[in-house]
Amino acid sequence: MLELIGLYPAWIEPGKGAGWMIGVIATIHVLFSHASVGAALVFAWLARRAVTAGQPQHIDFIRRYGAFLLIFSYVLGSVTGPGIWLAATAASPRGISTLIHNFVWLWATEWVFFLIEVAGVYLLVYLAGRVPVKTYLRFSTIFALASVSTLLIIVGILSFMLWPASPEWMKTGGVLTSFFGETMFAQLFMRLFFMLTIAAVVGGFAAAKTQDPVEKAYIVRTLSGIGIFGSVMGTACLLWFTNSFTPNAVDMMQTRLPSVFPYLMAASVIVTLLYFLATAWKPGIISTVTAAVAALVILILGLAPGETAREMVRKPWIAGEYMYANQIIGRDVPAAGIKSELPLLEKKGVLQTHPFVPQNLRNPQNRWERLEAGRVVAMTLCAGCHSLTASGLRPMKKYFPADVKPEDVKAWLAAGLHRGHIAYMPAVPLPELDRSVLAEFLSESLKVQAADPSLAADYVVKGFPKSEYGVAK
Ligand code: HEC
Repeated sequence: MLELIGLYPAWIEPGKGAGWMIGVIATIHVLFSHASVGAALVFAWLARRAVTAGQPQHIDFIRRYGAFLLIFSYVLGSVTGPGIWLAATAASPRGISTLIHNFVWLWATEWVFFLIEVAGVYLLVYLAGRVPVKTYLRFSTIFALASVSTLLIIVGILSFMLWPASPEWMKTGGVLTSFFGETMFAQLFMRLFFMLTIAAVVGGFAAAKTQDPVEKAYIVRTLSGIGIFGSVMGTACLLWFTNSFTPNAVDMMQTRLPSVFPYLMAASVIVTLLYFLATAWKPGIISTVTAAVAALVILILGLAPGETAREMVRKPWIAGEYMYANQIIGRDVPAAGIKSELPLLEKKGVLQTHPFVPQNLRNPQNRWERLEAGRVVAMTLCAGCHSLTASGLRPMKKYFPADVKPEDVKAWLAAGLHRGHIAYMPAVPLPELDRSVLAEFLSESLKVQAADPSLAADYVVKGFPKSEYGVAK
């Protein structure tokens, strides 16, 4: 019987790593999407004030903020949202497949709510001042509910990526068991509150353009209040969230995250709070520039480390604590009929079981073929988390000296990694052939890197030149 592991060709982004590409797209997307959901709540609140306090002038602010969001969140968010799908599908087809298999109907539901949101934001912009204020309030309420529903669904799926709901899920299965995870509500409320903060910052762009000084002061102070409330509550929920982590995630958080991360995030909260206090005190200082600076502070100091940390603490898994980040299934999930692929990997390796390995590399006969085979193994099993070139995410040169001998790399591969004893890395049990060629590749690529980093990048991406490695062209 042909025994295969359903792997795909690897996406290598030289000098950066595919994970880095997803991270950048996703972090920007978080700013756009969170601004939109937060703004939907702000709109509903202001539309209610318009009705109950008889202040229809707020509708004009909603119209202008809505028009800004159409570009900021809906055009840019719609580019980066599918951008995440595209990048994640190329980088980790089996990771995406894990999510689709577990949550196909929830994704479908998500898209229904997206549609309501997209239609809703157009309605709010075009119907402002054209329908009775009470009708407008109804539209705003529906828009807010649809927006929060998109958050609810994506957070259920994101928290499954951290780890599946209850350990029971592996045995019993069930969509709702995996959806309502231990961290789900903490993450939901944390994002909801920080969304208010982000919406209050981004709302500064529209607030700055408000003509009437009385209305401008009211809007700016309202945004400041919402922003302060969101930051304080969001920080409390962040602590709740990290307190609900599994022991492995706590370990990752404490040992593997750059130690500046907590300081960066604390700085982003403090700067944001000071900003809102200042704008509440003197609403006149708000301008496009101050709003842009505040948004950048949140993006760079708050969202970037926050999202990176969320990615990091789920290592070595990519989703559901059964799909490793290198796309090997590392655990049985009886409820889903899923079997660990580690025994097959240990017996036959990647070279024999990966459908896309060229025939000559399945049984390498010379030095060049061995290096190329090693390149395939490294791209398949390591490149998802480590850059194979000199720069980028966790480059190999960080861990091995440039003149490391293949035997030493091989010995290292046969130790903790083989048995899965390193908490932040997958178990990578390999047969003799795969382990030897991987060690030869790592050692040779580090050697070339030390001599000429750009040449080494070329070798990793395009393959080793035959002529240099003793094979006639
Ligand atoms: C799930 C992602 C992931 C995969 C896949 C992965 N690693 Fe790692 N590896 C990590 C992380 C995270 C670290 C810790 C990095 C740090 O903190 O600098 C690490 C550290 C290392 C280290 C340093 C040793 C140590 O104990 O800290 C070596 C060597 C290494 N990896 C080699 C490999 C090789 C070779 C492969 C492929 C067979 C591989 N890794 C696959 C995530 C991964």
